[in-house]
Amino acid sequence: MSNNNSNNSSQAYYDILIAGSGGAGLSLALHLADSYKVAVLSKFELTECSTFYAQGGISAVFDDQHDSIQSHIEDTLIAGAGLCDPEIVRLTVEQGRNSIEWLRLQGVNFTEEHTANGKQLHLNREGGHSHRRIVHTDDATGKAVSLSLIDRAKAHPNISLLEFHNVVELITAEKLGDSEQRIKGAYVLNIKTGKIQAIAAKIVVLATGGANKVYLYSTNPHSSSGDGIALAWRAGCRVSNMEFMQFHPTCLYHPSARSFLISEAVRGEGGHLILPDGERFMRRYDERMELAPRDIVARAIDSEIKKHGIDCVYLDISHKSRDFIQKHFPTIYMQCLELDIDISQQPIPVVPAAHYTCGGVLTDSNARTDIPGLYAVGEVACTGLHGANRMASNSLLECLVFAEQANQDIRKHIEQIPKPSQLPEWDESQVTDSDEEVVIAHNWDELRHFMWDYVGIVRTNKRLERAMHRLALLKVEIAEYYGKFRVTSDLLELRNLVIVAELIIRCAQQRKESRGLHYTKDYPDTDNQHPAQNTILMPEKAPKA
Ligand code: FAD
Ligand code: SIN
Repeated sequence: MSNNNSNNSSQAYYDILIAGSGGAGLSLALHLADSYKVAVLSKFELTECSTFYAQGGISAVFDDQHDSIQSHIEDTLIAGAGLCDPEIVRLTVEQGRNSIEWLRLQGVNFTEEHTANGKQLHLNREGGHSHRRIVHTDDATGKAVSLSLIDRAKAHPNISLLEFHNVVELITAEKLGDSEQRIKGAYVLNIKTGKIQAIAAKIVVLATGGANKVYLYSTNPHSSSGDGIALAWRAGCRVSNMEFMQFHPTCLYHPSARSFLISEAVRGEGGHLILPDGERFMRRYDERMELAPRDIVARAIDSEIKKHGIDCVYLDISHKSRDFIQKHFPTIYMQCLELDIDISQQPIPVVPAAHYTCGGVLTDSNARTDIPGLYAVGEVACTGLHGANRMASNSLLECLVFAEQANQDIRKHIEQIPKPSQLPEWDESQVTDSDEEVVIAHNWDELRHFMWDYVGIVRTNKRLERAMHRLALLKVEIAEYYGKFRVTSDLLELRNLVIVAELIIRCAQQRKESRGLHYTKDYPDTDNQHPAQNTILMPEKAPKA
């Protein structure tokens, strides 16, 4: 599809265009809006993002008596299995308290408790953390964060919130034929009207979240289709560490609740993982039992499910009082009760599900990508914080810290960037409406099935090869479809997911060892003979428009 039709009608312009209304995108918008005109795009409603569904909380060191910055750093490095960037870990962890205080100023009410020293933040514990350091709002932290940030953004005169707007493609100077590489804006589909417009901006920020919908079972909302990673890759950015897809150990197993998470905080408060016969099987896998890092717990569950030919394992918190459970986990308690599971009386059926994308668009400590003016913040980015395995509740922290890093960096440079001149409008003269949209649904289904079966928790060379083979066929079909038919949101997501799937498989094939979240039967051990390496994929040169 070509897109070089020049048109001089007045074109939308913002100083900063942010794709994504989650924790990363809205935090950055709020930082910048005192000085600049900012647009925030959201593919669906503003709340349809992983941030809104976050349960456990945000990690930050508040217990000065028992905890320390150093301990949070060490826990993060251990979970990351030798691949975290220590400088980035320190930068992030040191900003924990400030980030929480900033959220409180935005109106987020975190759960507090009364102590001998007065009211204090209540701190939860989760896997990999050696101390209680998870700041939370009951078991619905993300909802509290999202709603507060959305309220603030809605009230700000310099922020335009554009719901149901899907970024189709980034516009770079190079794509327009310039020798200089710089971001100029983006083509954006208005999902309600079906029209695509060019939006010009000095700075574009990808805050589009993860790619976990590439798998059949996921804890994520529909928005997590890896768009930002695919957009940046097509524009010419490096992408890193995509083999490290995190599977959350405990997603509710119930036909009517495919994506409902049972927070790790349930294990943090003493929940036991058991088999149908009541055996607490984690003691056979790790001395930290249910509070071992996620990769270990998810693999243990996967192995027990396969060994016993069962559909799920169980998470049991019924030894705690109903009062305790209702107080600490009101959302989980109610959601399960609606499905006739009284968690104060019976164990919860759970399975692992794709949860978090540790890899992504390679960025520096200021959230800059390889293209000047293009930033990536939040789950879409690979900053070096998580290494081979993200520790629980470090993700929202990363969103907040890197939004602030990007804010500082953008302010330093934006005044020197010229306003982009008129961008070519999107050209639809060569395409027609599709008469077989069912193909998209079938292809999407096929992709998510084989990614689950062949590129899931346990991998082998053979399975990765099989997945790559099937992907090659899908790629051809989708490219043909994209070239012939008017784009829809579903087609855009599928096109992006296919790219992301390829990046995951390529990274997985390059890693000839097991490390963190990447486990392969062909190389079951971690290579401790050589220094740990990130997997960095270099894009082919960005195509001209
Ligand atoms: P998101 O919050 O996912 O936002 C992405 C935004 O980008 C959305 O607005 C989406 O519409 C938009 N978007 C995507 N593609 C496009 C496009 N093409 N055009 C325009 N807009 C687009 N982490 C923690 O630290 N603590 C927790 O307790 C926790 N619990 C979790 C529970 C669940 C159920 C899930 C799913 C995740 C949890 N995580 C948790 C992870 C954490 O929530 C996410 O990593 C984090 O919220 C990501 O924020 P983000 O702003 O990067 O992306
Ligand atoms: C959870 O509450 O278990 C999710 C925490 C996270 O993903 O960081």
